Amino acid sequence: MVDVLVTGGAGFTGSNFVRWALAAHPDWRITTLDKLTYAGRLENLAGVLDDPRHRFVQGDIADAPVAGRLVREAAIVVHFAAETHVDRSLQSAGTFIQTDVFGTFVLLDAARQAPGLERFIQISTDEVYGTVASGRSRETDELRPRNPYSASKAGADRLAYSYWATYGVPVTVIRASNNYGPYQFPEKVIPLFITNAIDEQPLPLYGDGMHVRDWLHVEDHCRAIDVVIAHGERGEVYNVGGGNEVANVDLTRRILELTGRPTSLIRPVTDRQGHDRRYAVDTTKIAALGWAPHVPFDAGLAATVAWYTTHEDWWRPIKEGDAAFRRYYQAQYGGRAPA
Ligand code: NAD
Ligand code: TYD
Repeated sequence: MVDVLVTGGAGFTGSNFVRWALAAHPDWRITTLDKLTYAGRLENLAGVLDDPRHRFVQGDIADAPVAGRLVREAAIVVHFAAETHVDRSLQSAGTFIQTDVFGTFVLLDAARQAPGLERFIQISTDEVYGTVASGRSRETDELRPRNPYSASKAGADRLAYSYWATYGVPVTVIRASNNYGPYQFPEKVIPLFITNAIDEQPLPLYGDGMHVRDWLHVEDHCRAIDVVIAHGERGEVYNVGGGNEVANVDLTRRILELTGRPTSLIRPVTDRQGHDRRYAVDTTKIAALGWAPHVPFDAGLAATVAWYTTHEDWWRPIKEGDAAFRRYYQAQYGGRAPA
């Protein structure tokens, strides 16, 4: 059996990866290490929590005794755990530095003393490149992160690389574009707008709505991670992108069409501070390993709308039952002026 440690496996991409990997690899035994912050939910692991090849450990990646023991047991570490929402990093950045940078350091330091470790996959993001006026970011491009979230991820990304260059920890870095799909926390734009549309609530579109993201279905991200584990070079970086560049206003219109709601729900509001205009990655390098995205954006978005429509039992307790979420929503959108 291959022992795999997945950090942040109760979050959006992590839980999709755990479910996908258990199905794809009958010889993998997965331990999920997750602190269960506001974004981590055991419900995301429904169906695999009592799988004999899966174990859930609640804990903090920055807690060296716990994290170190689990890293030393693993042959493969896939490190997703992070604070992930740009808007929250603008409100308060301390937890981003603590988890994304210091927590990653704790895992890497443990990996130095993990003789059986074959892979340490650092889940980075295309946001480390900063805004891209034209063309597509290549893995060798300079990192120019412009908000506390992307800066903390850039710190972790290069720290992971340094542990390869200095100590030979078998690190490979993956920089994916914006993911979407089931189990994404309803603070991110796609699930927020779908669930607001279902409830006929306004969709708060930042600024002029012409900011562009390259949407990647989470299953395509899972397959990319798998391809990198099998064939990626240690010490290298791989971009992953869906090839679906969409302006936010067009995304919003598509969501309204799919939910059968009127465009009058679009509410242009004051822009996000330091809002990156566009992300776009060149994926030639991972394509050479045999990876290409499979999920067309129209089909993936329709399936995602269908998932949120049929899983109100998953998101209503967050949006309606969770006082912390309601406080966040009020602070983020309550006093926001029209654009
Ligand atoms: P998420 O916010 O849905 O989940 C993060 C998970 O990490 C949660 O389960 C949370 O409980 C856990 N966590 C947070 N702090 C922790 C700590 N100190 N110790 C242990 N667990 C902790 O995030 P996501 O969208 O699934 O993103 C996962 C990773 O993928 C992140 O590293 C993110 O930067 C990266 N990424 C995400 C996207 C995207 O669009 N979602 C795109 C590219 C890269
Ligand atoms: P988000 O899902 O927060 O991802 P990221 O900032 O990491 O790319 O936002 C995606 C895009 O949607 C981004 O350009 C900001 C925009 N956006 C809005 O217009 N309104 C919102 O309420 C949110 C959350 C995001």
